[in-house]
Amino acid sequence: MTIIFFKVVFIVFIVIALFGFFFTRKFLDIQYRFFSWYYKLAGIEAQFKTKSPAVIKTTSLIGIVFLCFFYFAAMEDFEKKNQNAAAVATEGQKTEVTETINLEDPDMKTVYDFLKKCETYYLATVENDQPRVRPFGTIDLFEDKLYIQTGKVKNVSKQMAKNPKVEICAFDGNTWIRIEAVVVNDDRIEAKQHMLDNYPSLRQMYKADDNNTQVLYLKDATATFYSFTQEPKVVKF
Ligand SMILES: Cc1cc2nc3c(=O)[nH]c(=O)nc-3n(C[C@H](O)[C@H](O)[C@H](O)COP(=O)(O)O)c2cc1C
Repeated sequence: MTIIFFKVVFIVFIVIALFGFFFTRKFLDIQYRFFSWYYKLAGIEAQFKTKSPAVIKTTSLIGIVFLCFFYFAAMEDFEKKNQNAAAVATEGQKTEVTETINLEDPDMKTVYDFLKKCETYYLATVENDQPRVRPFGTIDLFEDKLYIQTGKVKNVSKQMAKNPKVEICAFDGNTWIRIEAVVVNDDRIEAKQHMLDNYPSLRQMYKADDNNTQVLYLKDATATFYSFTQEPKVVKF
């Protein structure tokens, strides 16, 4: 949108400047027709009428040169910005594809790294006989345990309180993970604070001692890494 607007403005100005250069007399007539009120008001009508066409030609020429210079400089800038944006996007994709986690001998840290890399995972709980699933993002490694975070007011928290069996699923573009576990509520301030320190953005909504913030660690967990090309890898913690 910006670039189109810029091009339109450039074309309008360049047409005016070209017109001024090649049809100087006509340009002066038109200019006078539109701006005579101003020249009269400013008391410079007489000067205007004696305006030299050479001045108009020179001004138009300077205008044309300046406009062209400005146009090409701006286009180069747009081009550079586009290239940078493309490079950033490609880099993002590269990270996803090349930053492969070594799944040869996975442990709990591998699971943590994988979930961190995915950024979003899906947490399933049970409500009576109905599965419930939602996106989650918080994952913290604290005292050798994997923690997730939520708010006690949420349904997900109430469901886990009633039935602590959960399942987590995440996919990084190549590999996916499924973790079945039971969650254990940890009401210690230090566990909550550790989580909030790792997710500073959560501090807008949660405080370690606000009676709502809840952290739970995964117990009796079985995590399985799957891909289309390799055998599933299982890790228990
Ligand atoms: C990308 C993403 C990450 C999220 N991470 C969390 C999280 O870590 N903890 C949380 O309580 N809610 C998180 N949410 C919000 C929950 O998905 C949302 O509150 C959900 O409705 C909770 O489930 P419930 O409605 O069954 O209680 C996240 C949402 C999105 C879109």
